[in-house]
Amino acid sequence: MDFVEQLKSSVDIVGVIGEYVRLRRSGANRYMGLCPFHQEKTPSFTVHAVHQFYKCFSCGAGGDVIKFVQEKEGVSFYEALKSLSERYGIPMPKRSTYADEDAKLRGALLSMHELAEEQFRANLQSAAGEAARVYTAKRGLAPETIELFGLGYSDRSGRALIRLFEQHHFTVAQMEQSGLVGKRQDGSLYDRFRNRLMFPIHNESGKIIGFGGRALAADDEPKYLNSPETPLYKKTNVLYNLHRAKEAMRKADRVILVEGYMDAIGVTAAGFLNVVASCGTALTDKQVQALKRHTHNILVNFDPDSAGRSASERNTSILVDPSDPGMAQAPHERGRASPTALLVSESMHIRVVELEGGLDPDEFCKVHGADAYAARIENAKGYFYWLADRARARHDTRTSDGRVAVLEFLLPKVQRINDPLERMAIANDVAGYIGVSAGMVLDRFRKAANERTEKTIERPRSPLRHDERMLLTALLTDAELRGELIGGMKELETIETLPSRRIFQAIFALDDAGGRVGFDEVNARLEEADQNLLAQAVLNDDGELSRDEVMAALASLRRTEEQNRRVQLKARIAELERSGKFDEALRLTVELQGLERTSSPRRGAI
Ligand code: GTP
Ligand code: MN
Repeated sequence: MDFVEQLKSSVDIVGVIGEYVRLRRSGANRYMGLCPFHQEKTPSFTVHAVHQFYKCFSCGAGGDVIKFVQEKEGVSFYEALKSLSERYGIPMPKRSTYADEDAKLRGALLSMHELAEEQFRANLQSAAGEAARVYTAKRGLAPETIELFGLGYSDRSGRALIRLFEQHHFTVAQMEQSGLVGKRQDGSLYDRFRNRLMFPIHNESGKIIGFGGRALAADDEPKYLNSPETPLYKKTNVLYNLHRAKEAMRKADRVILVEGYMDAIGVTAAGFLNVVASCGTALTDKQVQALKRHTHNILVNFDPDSAGRSASERNTSILVDPSDPGMAQAPHERGRASPTALLVSESMHIRVVELEGGLDPDEFCKVHGADAYAARIENAKGYFYWLADRARARHDTRTSDGRVAVLEFLLPKVQRINDPLERMAIANDVAGYIGVSAGMVLDRFRKAANERTEKTIERPRSPLRHDERMLLTALLTDAELRGELIGGMKELETIETLPSRRIFQAIFALDDAGGRVGFDEVNARLEEADQNLLAQAVLNDDGELSRDEVMAALASLRRTEEQNRRVQLKARIAELERSGKFDEALRLTVELQGLERTSSPRRGAI
């Protein structure tokens, strides 16, 4: 067993997480509590004691005990191992390979990014960079701005970075991990970024950890190509330009939040240094925490109607909840709160900057100049007034019904403010603004508070069938049962039709390869959507697994299989009869009769 496995099996995840979260038992092996990774009022954070993982069904955070310590303490994998091994008195192997390898890889990746930036910058000044220079001129980027932001150009060769990395003796594995180099099916390598204007992305301490690359031609897709997730670059942790902006943010005690690279650059060039961009991802808790360390005042300068733009990656509806009337609702956003809700609950003071003419901040600064932009900033409305204006546009506030409707729309948002005094103050302001009495506001607040306490713990509901869940749990937890079941299960075609098919396939593949078939191993082979399914399946089936139940589940799956087979046979027979192939039809009819005889319910049969 390697050290990580050994550590994980000796550490009690419920105990570790219990030091950070008040957990309540909600099943034989399952615990629930308020998620420490986002703000919530009803628990959706779950810990499974046997499979040793945690999962939040609201924000999606999840992983094993090491990941939890990493995320909660903000430390590296190695540091989390060390802290757990010290706490539990499990000696780490001497001269741990983890420290060396972790640090070595990160060091290599950072050097690769520096080399890449140098090369991109040189390209932009070279003959090959002609078209890119025409483009930057067209966008009004001054040489100082290009220099300040380290802009560059990735050439068309598709091999330039690879050559550079080879010269510096980086390995193929390091190249791939950098995200700057891709690998084709046939194993050959290529530069990820070709013929693009390059924007280096820095972490808060100013190290380059990734790139964004903008297409030069309008019809070149995608418009922006970004580094993939790498050991250095986690897009949900990063705010573009934060390392340059943070001093100005502290000094001015406010930050301007914009959407795009070019917005951050254009606004900076106009003289506003306290600007950061979210660059297409929805604002995350990590990003909000990073902002909060420097200022509590945020000026959001987004296009409020960018909601519903097709690419799901785009930061849609930062200001408005996706579930609010009039907002397009992507399925994954249904019922979700806007990122602004996160800012509100984190006690950030939000003001909304509005620019006329559908211009983004970059364009606005170029067209109207810095003074006009400064005026827009000074006139930015408080978030709740801005929301009230939006709601007022939809209701007739001359009638009391209309005013109540506006209030109903606003109050849930005001409720998100954690500080009760501030919440009351804002509610009163808003009431005055829309013309309802403070008494009415109080009344609604009391009602909402009552409803809140009545909500009980929700159990994650699995979209999987009962038999699927039983079988999955059995395959993952009981080696003996697995040995007995797995051969027969691999032959069931029905498995291919189940929502959990990829989980079964992963289990079968591990079994075929002769590897350990445990929760972690299977989980590691799954995409995120399937990881969620697996977590739900395992969390739903709690308590002792009885052999009879598992066998009944398999029998139920077999019945489905037979039923499918019968349906197929009937369709095939009808088809054969239609085309006059009666001999063949008769043969299948006999087979069908045979099936119908044996498929009388014999429970428990394998
Ligand atoms: P310009 O069109 O160059 O002015 O870009 P912009 O920086 O003003 O960006 P825009 O408002 O179009 O989009 C905001 C941000 O979303 C961009 O800066 C990117 O970070 C991101 N984004 C835009 N288009 C794409 C895309 O096609 N793919 C990805 N991954 N991100 C995109
Ligand atoms: Mn733009």
